[in-house]
Amino acid sequence: MKHQEPRMGSNRTGVQMSPLDARRMHDQHVEAAPAVLQLPAAAAGADVRARYIADAGTVGSVPPPGSVKGVLNTGVAMLSGNNPQLLLDRLGERLAFERTATRICDALITKVRTLQGDDGDALVPLDILLSMREQEAEHFALVARCVEQLGGDSTAQTPAGDLAGVESSGLLQAVADPRTSVAQSLHALLISELADNSGWEMLVALAAAHKHTAMLREFERALERERAHLQYVKAWFERHTLGAPAAPEVPGGAHWTAPDSR
Ligand SMILES: [Fe+2]
Repeated sequence: MKHQEPRMGSNRTGVQMSPLDARRMHDQHVEAAPAVLQLPAAAAGADVRARYIADAGTVGSVPPPGSVKGVLNTGVAMLSGNNPQLLLDRLGERLAFERTATRICDALITKVRTLQGDDGDALVPLDILLSMREQEAEHFALVARCVEQLGGDSTAQTPAGDLAGVESSGLLQAVADPRTSVAQSLHALLISELADNSGWEMLVALAAAHKHTAMLREFERALERERAHLQYVKAWFERHTLGAPAAPEVPGGAHWTAPDSR
């Protein structure tokens, strides 16, 4: 497989490339210290950012339910002290994230096929990666269905959905970059799966708190699949990085669930 290992090359980004400038910068010390080492109040642009923060509004809003059933459900939930918009916002987040997760898998599948071929014994088994992609797409459809059941609009972008789109776009860029290796792409996918696991845990907790029993069961099942995704991706990344020969195993005896086996 080509360019799996980082190679030595003519990288000129480091301070060692210019010893005289490095010495001058060291002598000036505090003045020239990178902004990351300074306290926020002293960092360049902090006062400008503070003015923007003080004047800024919020990132969008959760739209009210458009259907009669949704209005009724929302009204009952609000009277009972629940915040239905909280659940709708988090569902919007999962919706945005699962959409990007599916695209990340698509990009990685193309990369693995190109660099590794269809070799079933290779470091990233294509059949598992394809199943993972199908499950991400199924999770997207599941969340869209749940939003509709609550009377919400699954095409609306909620505040948390907006943020998830922005946050995950960098991961997609990393995997879609034709120069990144399978190992580098797996690192981006690992971050995605970690966030995905945390997101589904939150949805499970919210469904339980809002007493949506049927949703709770479906979310628990999605979380179980996402836990398996995480273990596989972690194992693949470790094998690429450490060269460990062992096949990836899912701790706790959990088995890989094919998308069509319910
Ligand atoms: Fe996943």
